[in-house]
Amino acid sequence: MKPLTTILFCLPLATATDYFFSFTSGNAITNSQRLRFNNSIPISSPGASAAPHNPADHFSRIYVNGSAPLTQATLYVVPTNPHPPPVPGYYALSGQEKVPDAWRLIQSYRPQDFAPGEFRFDDWTLKDAGGNRTLLRYGTDDLGEWRWIAVREVSNLGVERWVPWWVKPTEGNLGNLTNWEYVVVELELVVAKGPVNSLAPGGILE
Ligand SMILES: *[C@@H]1O[C@H](CO)[C@@H](O)[C@H](O)[C@H]1NC(C)=O
Ligand SMILES: *[C@@H]1O[C@H](CO)[C@@H](O)[C@H](O)[C@H]1NC(C)=O
Ligand SMILES: *[C@@H]1O[C@H](CO)[C@@H](O)[C@H](O)[C@H]1NC(C)=O
Ligand SMILES: *[C@@H]1O[C@H](CO)[C@@H](O)[C@H](O)[C@H]1NC(C)=O
Repeated sequence: MKPLTTILFCLPLATATDYFFSFTSGNAITNSQRLRFNNSIPISSPGASAAPHNPADHFSRIYVNGSAPLTQATLYVVPTNPHPPPVPGYYALSGQEKVPDAWRLIQSYRPQDFAPGEFRFDDWTLKDAGGNRTLLRYGTDDLGEWRWIAVREVSNLGVERWVPWWVKPTEGNLGNLTNWEYVVVELELVVAKGPVNSLAPGGILE
């Protein structure tokens, strides 16, 4: 049996932490890429795109009141540009696109714009996967049926990016999944080690 002191030192500390999203695996564009927000694309999902990156597209920065392991967490948007609205922003799962058992990761300062049940934001799980890896999950998924995929989308100006969806493959979404270009990924939270700097490339001084 371990001495008591060792066990006590292993207890998680209740500290608030800033994180970034990061894809792992998938393809060459998604693997090990921290997700960026692109203000010029109307659908407000963080995503990964191929280099070269626009320095004005900041990494999507997250504030969590706690650190992994954590359940029923809320992921707040950390503004990296001046003059954010005077209300909190959330990273949430949006059901607005009405694909059964498929939720798009978005950021929003306006939960009130969503129909009831189409803005899920307060049941995130930060799963400690060992080796300093923190995996992101939503809700209870006892059977392990849900997964992250990165879906390819192209903006009106022809810019390609890959954005996260939380999906459970079912008959209801088979048609959509078949039509989408996507890769299976893991979505991790990586600790932000530098302070916000709205002028620095990616919005972080690191
Ligand atoms: C963000 O979108 C704009 C307009 O579509 C594009 O010019 C820019 O390159 C995009 N940045 C990235 C990293 O995709
Ligand atoms: C963080 O959580 C603690 C404990 O639940 C709470 O007392 C505190 O007010 C929270 N702080 C913020 C900024 O949400
Ligand atoms: C986890 O992070 C700590 C602090 O940065 C480091 O000392 C340790 O080596 C890391 N462990 C692994 C398995 O990467
Ligand atoms: C999902 O599939 C339906 C039926 O084919 C289609 O109408 C809808 O536009 C698709 N949604 C998305 C987001 O691809």
